[in-house]
Amino acid sequence: MQKKLIGNSGIESSRFIYGCMRIAGDNSESDRQKGKQAIMAAFDAGYNHFDHADIYGGGACESLFGEILTEKPELREQIILTSKAGIRPRNVDIDSYAPTRYDFSREYILKSVEGSLQRLNTDYLDMFLLHRPDYLFDVREVAETFALLKASGKVKHFGVSNFKPSQVELLRSALSMPLLVNQVEINIHNIDTLIDGTLDQCQQHSITPIAWCPLGGVAYSAWGNTFSVADEQRIENELAKQSEKYECAPWQVILAWLLKHPAGICPIVGSTTPERIVAAKKASELTYSREDWYRLLEARNGQAVP
Ligand SMILES: NC(=O)c1ccc[n+]([C@@H]2O[C@H](COP(=O)([O-])OP(=O)(O)OC[C@H]3O[C@@H](n4cnc5c(N)ncnc54)[C@H](OP(=O)(O)O)[C@@H]3O)[C@@H](O)[C@H]2O)c1
Repeated sequence: MQKKLIGNSGIESSRFIYGCMRIAGDNSESDRQKGKQAIMAAFDAGYNHFDHADIYGGGACESLFGEILTEKPELREQIILTSKAGIRPRNVDIDSYAPTRYDFSREYILKSVEGSLQRLNTDYLDMFLLHRPDYLFDVREVAETFALLKASGKVKHFGVSNFKPSQVELLRSALSMPLLVNQVEINIHNIDTLIDGTLDQCQQHSITPIAWCPLGGVAYSAWGNTFSVADEQRIENELAKQSEKYECAPWQVILAWLLKHPAGICPIVGSTTPERIVAAKKASELTYSREDWYRLLEARNGQAVP
């Protein structure tokens, strides 16, 4: 498995990160077993970086991972554990009228991190990310909260998720530590980060872009899908040609398309199928050309770049 330094931290992450959002399935015993097998398949295939959030499976995904760390405590020092918080779902509070909201208050973030540590059965997170920007966040309060988490040893490094460049700049202006990553949706459907300055900013400040739902628009309909049948057909046709050329599956071509970007995107693989988890690595072995990168963009857009 290819490795990638995260920011300027010295953390060496596998180029593909394993995403734990789906590992608990419907929380049945059979889905939980499948999830555990997926985690071990990822570990055995060389993934050393596991992505969580307090809300995945309502906490069940972190708990399942924590069971593995209880059974195999020697794994902890060999892996990078990332978790996220800041999305506060309705109905988990005492106040049943509260809506789902974002909450970067000190109290909520500290409590969320504590919950993640307990469920994951670990004393520290390698990285903690703010999950989605809280419209009401007080940047000084967040900076103080990060400093508290770092001083306590509960979190080693920090990053964000779904932040726009201006929000990253705002937070950077108040922090005493670097932001190492911005975890954003990047796939053939959602190319906002190519256009809105996110990937440029990542390169400028040594922030590693991490791509969630990398297969959106290929393996399944992307969030907020706007593709027409004709769009999908063009992409499918181009992917068919390229997968024949590179002797791989269309979804592996899409991963290679992400890896080609000079910002050094690390895709998060979210499959729970061991064969797919292993096969994702093939994408980093392709010598993927600039011409094919633009051909796929052209197929997506339905027109050549101007
Ligand atoms: N920061 C955020 O806001 C945010 C949001 C969403 C996700 N995430 C993170 O990103 C990770 C990855 O997201 P994701 O799980 O959506 O990633 P993904 O790897 O794009 O998608 C995985 C899903 O696609 C299916 N799949 C994979 N290859 C397929 C194929 N060839 N044909 C048909 N289906 C296929 C998988 O099914 P099988 O399991 O059956 O293989 C699984 O359901 C998550 O685990 C989470 O850690 C972050």
